[in-house]
Amino acid sequence: MDEELIQKINRLQNAFATVGQNNPVDLPQIVVIGSQSSGKSSVLENIVGRDFLPRGSGIVTRRPLVLQLINIEKSKDEKEPNVDYGEFLHIPGKKFTDFSKIRDEIVRETELKTGKNAGISSLPINLTVYSSRVLTLTLVDLPGLTKVPVGDQPKDIERQIREMILKYITRPNAIILAVTAANTDLANSDGLKLAREVDPEGSRTIGVLTKVDLMDKGTDVIDILAGRIIPLRLGYVAVVNRGQRDIENNKSIDKALDYEKQFFETHPSYSNKAQFCGTPFLSRKLSYILNHHIKATLPEIRAKVTASLARYQAELEQLGDPNDEKAGGMSNTVLSIITEFCNEFCQVLDGQSNDVSA
Ligand code: GDP
Ligand code: NA
Ligand code: MG
Repeated sequence: MDEELIQKINRLQNAFATVGQNNPVDLPQIVVIGSQSSGKSSVLENIVGRDFLPRGSGIVTRRPLVLQLINIEKSKDEKEPNVDYGEFLHIPGKKFTDFSKIRDEIVRETELKTGKNAGISSLPINLTVYSSRVLTLTLVDLPGLTKVPVGDQPKDIERQIREMILKYITRPNAIILAVTAANTDLANSDGLKLAREVDPEGSRTIGVLTKVDLMDKGTDVIDILAGRIIPLRLGYVAVVNRGQRDIENNKSIDKALDYEKQFFETHPSYSNKAQFCGTPFLSRKLSYILNHHIKATLPEIRAKVTASLARYQAELEQLGDPNDEKAGGMSNTVLSIITEFCNEFCQVLDGQSNDVSA
């Protein structure tokens, strides 16, 4: 329904990232946060339906990953099914159909900017995944909250990660996906604690409870889901991802999603609310919330896009003759790209504003 709008927002985001200006207009996006090993990468891989994120112990995610999911129509021809692929903003035109190569590229690009073991960098990696299995969504994966530096990590790594996360979630248009393992105490959830600092009313935070399969027998997350522990206006979703053993045994994501469905449908605590549990429900919920949020912020986005366009134009004029190749030629090309996107974008917005008022 609003595919076109989200895609325009994505392209605008890429255009700004290309000039090294990430997000000057605070575009709505879903930001994933939580403690290290709470299951953030697993949640993202399940939403995408593919294995493509680096894994291992320690801080694996060391640069923000801006992940744009684009739904493409499923091929009607069974002999020619469409092929899912990914494309990085820093390697334009190259289609990655082998998702393990996407993982390799994320690792390579991370090490390029941060070194092999040490630090983190707030410079994002931008990846777009085209698939008939995904809903159109933009998600940002951030380094997990950690307490203890390991190896040659900087001593203040905890503070650095906290600040990077805060930078993303402080933006009023960020929707916070706070991931907490269900076999840990919700009151101690690093993700929820941080979310609360910037969203005290819990109006733009969604709770995700992972590892529901690892809870002690006889315990469940029903009280949390019902909002009786830490209420969030957007609520919580319980999921079951692959465990470490499943990953070692190369259990496919399809199998894992089947298992998750069966888990909730047959569990005595969840069977009567199974349709509100699990990854497919989480994906639909995120898509709905993102669309709703974008619609609500359209007028503001439009004004800011127009203002930042005017600012770039003024800055470029300062640089000298826009037709002079050496002085302004390069930035001028970039400006024309942004101008084009802004114009297209505003046209789409005009169409959408009619819907909103209707
Ligand atoms: P991240 O550090 O937050 O990105 O966490 P990961 O997604 O890498 O998960 C950390 C570990 O927890 C891995 O060994 C996963 O297999 C495991 N894990 C994540 N979610 C679940 C879950 O729902 N159930 C089980 N049993 N294990 C999980
Ligand atoms: Na957490
Ligand atoms: Mg991770």
